[in-house]
Amino acid sequence: MEFVHYSVLQKEVLSLLVPPDRQALMIDCTLGEGGHSKLFLETYPLLNVIGLDRDSEIIEKAKRRLAPFGDRFQAINIWFDEFFSTYDGPRPDLVLFDLGISVFHYEESGRGFSFRKSEELDMRLDKTAPMRVEDIVNGYQEDRLADVIYQFGEERYSRRIAAAICSYSKSKRITRSDELAEIIYKAVPPAYRYGRIHPATKTFQALRIEVNRELDRIEPALRKAIDLTNPGGRIGVVSFHSLEDRKVKWLFKRAAEGSVPQPGEAQRTDDGKPKVRILTKKPVVPTTEECGLNPPSRSAKLRVVEKLED
Ligand SMILES: C[S@@+](CC[C@H](N)C(=O)[O-])C[C@H]1O[C@@H](n2cnc3c(N)ncnc32)[C@H](O)[C@@H]1O
Repeated sequence: MEFVHYSVLQKEVLSLLVPPDRQALMIDCTLGEGGHSKLFLETYPLLNVIGLDRDSEIIEKAKRRLAPFGDRFQAINIWFDEFFSTYDGPRPDLVLFDLGISVFHYEESGRGFSFRKSEELDMRLDKTAPMRVEDIVNGYQEDRLADVIYQFGEERYSRRIAAAICSYSKSKRITRSDELAEIIYKAVPPAYRYGRIHPATKTFQALRIEVNRELDRIEPALRKAIDLTNPGGRIGVVSFHSLEDRKVKWLFKRAAEGSVPQPGEAQRTDDGKPKVRILTKKPVVPTTEECGLNPPSRSAKLRVVEKLED
């Protein structure tokens, strides 16, 4: 099968992100293999889609999949925050973020995202970026590494894990994903080795977030997406862990109160006029049936807002 990613919350995303009944534009900020974009292009014949993804391999898969839609679909290989910082095209009516990485990355990319495989420790989405996870685990000071694992993985054994990684890398460079997983496995207390998740899960997540600067990109992109979207348009975000969801919830709440602080200013607010209406008081989560069919969906949370008059 060419496409390995099962798009999450399909019905819920479609029913909350409804385009106006005219020629409309959607920006799919995390195109992946194009599953969500395909759904929207099929459902809404008047909709055009711009799909963004920083991964040059996965974007080629999406282009092949969406080629039948001709010039209704356009793909751009870019980080979504960089896209929004320079975009001056037509205003979108729908904006979708489905954060994180795709099954493609774990199963097919060969870039060390999975601790169950023996692959190079890379984990970059942007293969032109100078730093790989291999450079982080062999190059960061122990304290800095522990902070990354704690902050982005919420890993309670971050200090033990960082100490074990740094001690190991003094005598041998760590180059493979299974090698790193084994170091982590041995570093944690025995009881933690046999828990609900593999003991390397959170550390791998943290390293991936660090190497791609994933969390830094969400807020600036969302802020611009809110400003740019046509009144009446909708912005939806699917997040997969609490660090992402907290940022989305906070920004949507501030936008609904008309009090989005300027970048770098915790308190200063804009003009006090609400910019959005929150459509999901509580985040929408997958049904038990979806979680059974597609276990990675179980941590997904969807939040949607509607843009108010400018
Ligand atoms: C969860 S997948 C999207 C799956 C897609 N919605 C589908 O249905 O097939 C997330 C995708 O977003 C990309 N991505 C993650 N963060 C990004 C960012 N800040 N800018 C651009 N692309 C990003 C990843 O490379 C990945 O392909």
